[in-house]
Parts: sequence; structure tokens; C-alpha cells
Amino acid sequence: MSAWRAVGSGDPVSDGIVAVGELEPLAAERLAGEVWDYVAGGAGDERTLRAAGDAWAAHGLSPHAMRDVSDLTTEVELLGRRMAHPILLAPTATHVRYHPGAELETLRGAQTAGSLLTLSSLGSIVPDDLGKAAQAIDAAWWMQVYLQRDRSLSYAYLDQAVAAGTEALVLTVDTPSLGARDRDRRDSFGASRGVAFPTLAHLPPVADPAPPHRRVWNPHLANDVSERDVTELARRYEIPVLVKGVLRADDARRAVDAGAGGVIVSNHGARNLDTVAPTAAVLADVVDAVAGEVPVLVDGGIRRGTDIATALCLGARAVLVGRPVIWGLATYGAAGVQHVVEVLRTELEMAMALLGASRVSDLGRDLLLTRR
Ligand SMILES: Cc1cc2nc3c(=O)[nH]c(=O)nc-3n(C[C@H](O)[C@H](O)[C@H](O)COP(=O)(O)O)c2cc1C
Repeated sequence: MSAWRAVGSGDPVSDGIVAVGELEPLAAERLAGEVWDYVAGGAGDERTLRAAGDAWAAHGLSPHAMRDVSDLTTEVELLGRRMAHPILLAPTATHVRYHPGAELETLRGAQTAGSLLTLSSLGSIVPDDLGKAAQAIDAAWWMQVYLQRDRSLSYAYLDQAVAAGTEALVLTVDTPSLGARDRDRRDSFGASRGVAFPTLAHLPPVADPAPPHRRVWNPHLANDVSERDVTELARRYEIPVLVKGVLRADDARRAVDAGAGGVIVSNHGARNLDTVAPTAAVLADVVDAVAGEVPVLVDGGIRRGTDIATALCLGARAVLVGRPVIWGLATYGAAGVQHVVEVLRTELEMAMALLGASRVSDLGRDLLLTRR
């Protein structure tokens, strides 16, 4: 851990980092080429990746003037927990590639900023260790789930995660196969060389002998995940199961009818199927289909407070942030993660004030040019 040094002065505030996007080139500079490719890349020609941010802006904001916003709060209620703001950390794999403190470092940053970490099941530490650290600093966290074909192998680490205090499970349902990530295929998974997945350490060793251009399946992931798994996880663990990776109204309905405690609209950071719709374009359909029965969350290209305000106007209860958290972790460690969340929260406060909304519940579709 001693060899790791933050960039600049070590403090993103003193270094004058005012927007999360400023961290991206700094992270690119210090991560090895194939690791950066793994973080930054998307599927195919990266059309959906490029479209993500503009799709939020395309809704256009239509603010109210002459509103008293002197008593403004970004507070939200999410699955029984009051949160100071609706900005969560999306699950992203193996944080040890970005910082030697791995997810424990990320957790500290998230906690200080009043956010919540989602531990990837391809994380660098086991849920038990995260749970202990979280308990020591009173941090909330969720466990993301990639099921194995043999479900009993997954239940082994999920039992541990639930015992360690995860408040919810996030079942990722959008990854039955690898995405055509050219950058990773070119690097031939160079970014994964020497990377361990402690949560999956009890699994039989698997290797795909196919050359990179003929690989379809991720040997770590099941390709038969269905709504039966939602029902089974909810029954087995009796905590909310959020279904992550939904892009259609009918799938959202199936998830809710199967017992989902929440739906996360996500295209996996545009890393799986290129040319799918940006999440900003399909969020409203999912919100309408779910009809308030459970919270709808969203991720993908959230880089500004106005993106968050737009998502909330469309009906999302909260947003998750993926790559910017990695940029923060790789450059400033916990302080960088904290800074990313704080900058986004500050920008959300500004956006709400400028929209004439003093409560998150004041954000509605009437404030969007596309929905009037
Ligand atoms: C490097 C990286 C690793 C990821 N690993 C996972 C993962 O292990 N499980 C998962 O459900 N999603 C994973 N995702 C997807 C994120 O949870 C999230 O959906 C996406 O990053 C959001 O888009 P954004 O990066 O534009 O904020 C990963 C994304 C990135 C960039």
C-alpha cells in the first residue's frame, strides 16, 4: 500500500478539480494501457457508449423561475433507508487494479460522502471482509450477484454477504455472454492477467481455450438467469433483490411480478450490446411499467448534476455511477471517490435550485422539454 501515491497534492479540492470529467484524463495517464482499455471501453463500435451522455442532455430542462428554493434538500428514501442524496456507486469489478486498498478504500470514500457501495461479485475482496469494514465505519453496502450455472456455488458467497450485512442484492441480468469488447479482445484479457476473484475462489477452475476472436461465454457467469432466480433469491434471503440491466417495460414488469424489490435500468455501461438504447431514452417506459410498485434506479453516462436531475425528473429514485468512481479511486483513493460523489451532489443541488425544485419529489417530467 505504501508504494501507492495520489496524483497532484493528494487532495482533489486543493488541486482544483471541479468537475468529475477532469479526473478521466488523470486516471488514463496513470493506469496501464490494458487496464485503462478495460475501464473505458464499450462494446462493438462504442456507439451506445458515445451516446450515453448526450442522451441525458437531449431531454432538455425547462426550469421554473420565481420559486422559493431557500430550504433545499436532496434527501431521498430508498428501501427503507434515508439518504442525504440519491447518488450510489455502481458495481465495478476488481478495485485492486486501481488502488491497493481495493474496495475497502472505495467504501471509505463512499461512506464519507453519504453514498453506498455496491460490491461486485467479481470484486477484489470477499463480502465478509467488506462487511466487517462497513460495520466499523457504519457504512451501508449492497452485494451484486453474477450467478453461476450451479446456483449452489453462488449461494455460498451470497450466504456470506447476507450474514456480513448487505442491505440488498443486485442481480445483474444483462450479461448472458461476453460483449464484443474489441479493446479487451485485442488486449486478449491482458487486464485480467494475474487478477483474482476471491469471491469465486471456491469455484472449479475454468479456462476458455478458444482464441479471443472466438470467445462467446464468460466462464464465470451463468447464461440461463431468469425471473425464477429473482423469486428464489428473494425467498431465500428475505432482503430486497434489485434486478440490474433492464431496458424494456415488459422485462421490468416480469422482474417486479417475480418479486424484485427494485429495478435498475442499465446497459452495463455500454459494455455488452452495442447500438442498444441509451438508458436515458428508455427510463420513462420502465418507470411507467413499474408504476411505483418498487423503486426504479438508473445508470449509464451520469457525469453531471443535470444528468441526475433529468433521471429524477423521468421518475428514477436514484442513480448509480460507474467509471467516474474508478477515476476517483485511481487518482486520489478514498478522497477521489468522495470527491466524485460530492461534486455530483453539489451540481444536483444547483440544478434543483435552478429548476425551482426544493425537494426531489418536485422533480417531474413537466421540467423536461421532451415530456411536456
Ligand atoms: C470497469 C467496469 C467494471 C464493471 N463491472 C461490473 C460488474 O462486475 N457487475 C455489474 O453488474 N456491472 C459492472 N459494470 C457496469 C456498472 O455497474 C454500470 O452499469 C456502468 O458502469 C454505468 O455506466 P457508467 O460507467 O457510464 O457510469 C462495470 C463497469 C465498468 C466500467
